[in-house]
Amino acid sequence: MSPSTALQALRTGFDFAQDERRGSLNPEIVFFAARADNGVIGVEGGLPWRIPADLKRFKAMTAGLPMIMGRKTFESFPDLLVGRRHIVLTRDADWSRPGAEVADGVTAALSLAGGPVVAVIGGAEIYRLFLPLVHRIELTEVHAAPDGDTHMPDLGAGWRETFREDVAADDKRPAYSFVTLVRA
Ligand SMILES: NC(=O)c1ccc[n+]([C@@H]2O[C@H](COP(=O)([O-])OP(=O)(O)OC[C@H]3O[C@@H](n4cnc5c(N)ncnc54)[C@H](OP(=O)(O)O)[C@@H]3O)[C@@H](O)[C@H]2O)c1
Repeated sequence: MSPSTALQALRTGFDFAQDERRGSLNPEIVFFAARADNGVIGVEGGLPWRIPADLKRFKAMTAGLPMIMGRKTFESFPDLLVGRRHIVLTRDADWSRPGAEVADGVTAALSLAGGPVVAVIGGAEIYRLFLPLVHRIELTEVHAAPDGDTHMPDLGAGWRETFREDVAADDKRPAYSFVTLVRA
């Protein structure tokens, strides 16, 4: 194990050595997230905004990918998202829902997901858990400061922006930017 991997393992308690043996660290791990300028990503189990173009982009970009998410995020969806797998992290061994593949941690989730690209779609607890592993972040910056109870963890330094599209506000929603970040 490299020193930086060992440090990540210490930080997260995640058994990288075991996972490297399984080869499940090979896929590209991509976050999909929408974050307000004040760091808010959620309120009362849902999203604090309604931005149809963001949902459309999210659906297009995750089509066909295995999606890893927290149990609370799964339960925030009105329905399953067609055409993609839902891998749900929970500590509750009795939890199950139609269409959900249950994982009890990072290793199990990645083993279920396979590759070559894995979408990690939140919420905050799950972003925090996968942050040491993520290669790319597809971020929607929502240029507003809504009230909320769920915040994106600090992404830290060492990211390089490779794409940005800025969209102006209209009378129904705030301005936002689609941004791609990769490890610098
Ligand atoms: N803006 C965005 O891009 C975005 C994206 C996703 C979600 N959200 C919002 O974020 C909020 C939900 O986020 P959240 O942070 O509260 O919850 P979450 O991350 O969706 O789910 C948390 C749950 O995941 C399970 N979990 C966490 N760590 C685990 C581990 N190490 N092993 C196994 N299971 C684990 C636990 O489930 P159990 O309690 O069942 O054990 C925990 O309660 C909602 O408001 C949602 O709408 C926003």
